Amino acid sequence: TVVPVILAGGKGERFWPLSRKHRPKQFLKLSGTGSSLLQTTADRLVQLAPGWDKLWICTSSQLATGVQEQLPELPPENLLAEPEGRDTAPAVAWTTLEIAKRYGEDAVIGFFPADHWIGDYPAFEKTIQAAVELAATKDAIVTLGIKPTYPSTGYGYIEQGEAKGSYLDLPVYRVQRFTEKPDLTTAERFIAQGNFSWNSGMFIFRAGVVLRELATHAPEILTPLQSQGKAAYGQLGKISIDYALMEKTQLAYILPADFGWDDLGDWNAMARLLQGEQPNLELGNHVSLDTQGAIVYDQDPEDLVVTIGLEDIVIVRDGNATLIVKKERTQDIKKVLGLLKDNP
Ligand code: GDD
Ligand code: MG
Repeated sequence: TVVPVILAGGKGERFWPLSRKHRPKQFLKLSGTGSSLLQTTADRLVQLAPGWDKLWICTSSQLATGVQEQLPELPPENLLAEPEGRDTAPAVAWTTLEIAKRYGEDAVIGFFPADHWIGDYPAFEKTIQAAVELAATKDAIVTLGIKPTYPSTGYGYIEQGEAKGSYLDLPVYRVQRFTEKPDLTTAERFIAQGNFSWNSGMFIFRAGVVLRELATHAPEILTPLQSQGKAAYGQLGKISIDYALMEKTQLAYILPADFGWDDLGDWNAMARLLQGEQPNLELGNHVSLDTQGAIVYDQDPEDLVVTIGLEDIVIVRDGNATLIVKKERTQDIKKVLGLLKDNP
């Protein structure tokens, strides 16, 4: 069995103006199911490892109250609140230390992002079970590989190495190389080579294995957390687990994952999810003349959006804020928020 952890400390800035400082993407009820991404993720993991007392969440102290409100069944002692966001390496290190304290170093832990769409639950469950079996029996940091569809620069890439048998009929390979967020030329080369997968962002391992690997590859993160607990955060650098550990470890394995996956990273992904391949996503009153491929998101029934002759554009209105951006530049929302006074 596995101790599932949701990493829920991210800001989800690319969904501004819907996501705001105290209302990040993972809290939003985007899908029309009435549940937020965080709630959907938690429900999925409680089904995987039954019982709310098994589930852990690591988030920022700013968001901790929001997490409790959204997940009232989560035991408060399973909610780890970081004093400040230091990206995912400190979050993984600290959570792993706390879980090892409670369940011992042989506990198998699964880290899951808060903001993914999973299409086929039974296939997801089988893949995680295979990963858990592998992690329980080998010194392995198990990743799940997604078949890439375009040269994205927003994901980690995993080069598949030697075959290492199969678990629950699913083939397992060593990771030859892990490259976090390559530039476009490198991503194109990886895709052309064919033996690369996207990193799904989920990791499965025994607590002791990762603590030993962090001691070797990222002692500047692990050692302060070991001696001072979360009081160490002020002195930690900001770095993700992908750079701090995955690019360096020799213990990484990959299980090809085929369960319908999407990282709901930006408005284009949301449009894919909500409307399949249809060209227009329209939530709200949008009247258009000769507009093609627009994503218009405005849930206030009083509002009206009118467009004429536009192409491949995203328009989002929320309260007193309006975003208008070309589809291909939605990644740059992060940059523009840096220009706004105290990032509303
Ligand atoms: N507790 C905590 N603290 N959680 C955090 C922090 C933090 O400082 N920063 C981010 N998170 C959470 C986010 O909320 C999200 O659920 C998860 O950790 C991953 O962070 P992202 O910021 O979304 O990472 P990414 O999408 O850029 O990249 C990762 O995921 C990709 C797949 O979606 C990497 O693992 C890539 O290699 C991977 O391809
Ligand atoms: Mg992400």
